[in-house]
Amino acid sequence: MDRFVFFEEQAKWWDEVISDVGDEKISMLLENMSVFKGDKIADIGTGTGLLIPYLSKAIGSSGMVYALDFSPAMLREAKNKFGYLKNISFICVDVMKVTLPCLVDMAICNGCFPHFPDKIGALKAIFDALLPGGILVISHLSSREEINQKHLEIGGEIARDLIPKLSELEIMLRQVGFESVVMFEDEDVYFSKAVKP
Ligand SMILES: C[S@@+](CC[C@H](N)C(=O)[O-])C[C@H]1O[C@@H](n2cnc3c(N)ncnc32)[C@H](O)[C@@H]1O
Repeated sequence: MDRFVFFEEQAKWWDEVISDVGDEKISMLLENMSVFKGDKIADIGTGTGLLIPYLSKAIGSSGMVYALDFSPAMLREAKNKFGYLKNISFICVDVMKVTLPCLVDMAICNGCFPHFPDKIGALKAIFDALLPGGILVISHLSSREEINQKHLEIGGEIARDLIPKLSELEIMLRQVGFESVVMFEDEDVYFSKAVKP
């Protein structure tokens, strides 16, 4: 099955799939991301909007989250839940073609980076969408091994979507021009933060 069809079908169940991700993990993620009031953030591959209420609260009324996804079905679910929030804008677009109303302070790819077939191309597109000094966060709220195993079990195109080792990701980030790379992983999380100079 191809990726697009997979995510269109998963949209109905996605909240169940991620039901074990609790407040604690997301709070840890936000602490490491360093989000500030007034920030403009691209939540790339927002899915059904797991991070939306947390980001919305953290940036306040002067900030804006651009919640992006290439799957209309995922975005529909996210909009149904969070469409009432004034500081969220929903955009249906492939990461490779991302264009936003303004450059952003931060982009987050939670749970979606391995699904981008052209990883360097996606990183370049995100780099161009960031302000100078802008931050890119790439994260997963489970271990790399656990997620890669799940992707292999799903099969089809998803079986090719494996999370790179942090050392491999760092090479890609630096190739595109990111600096100040901070990374860690353990049995619960995979986290990388890098800065556009
Ligand atoms: C595993 S889900 C993660 C969703 C959400 N970030 C979360 O943490 O629950 C991956 C999301 O990335 C989206 N996605 C995959 N490839 C994409 C692409 N090339 N451009 C934009 N979105 C993409 C999928 O539609 C899906 O909603």
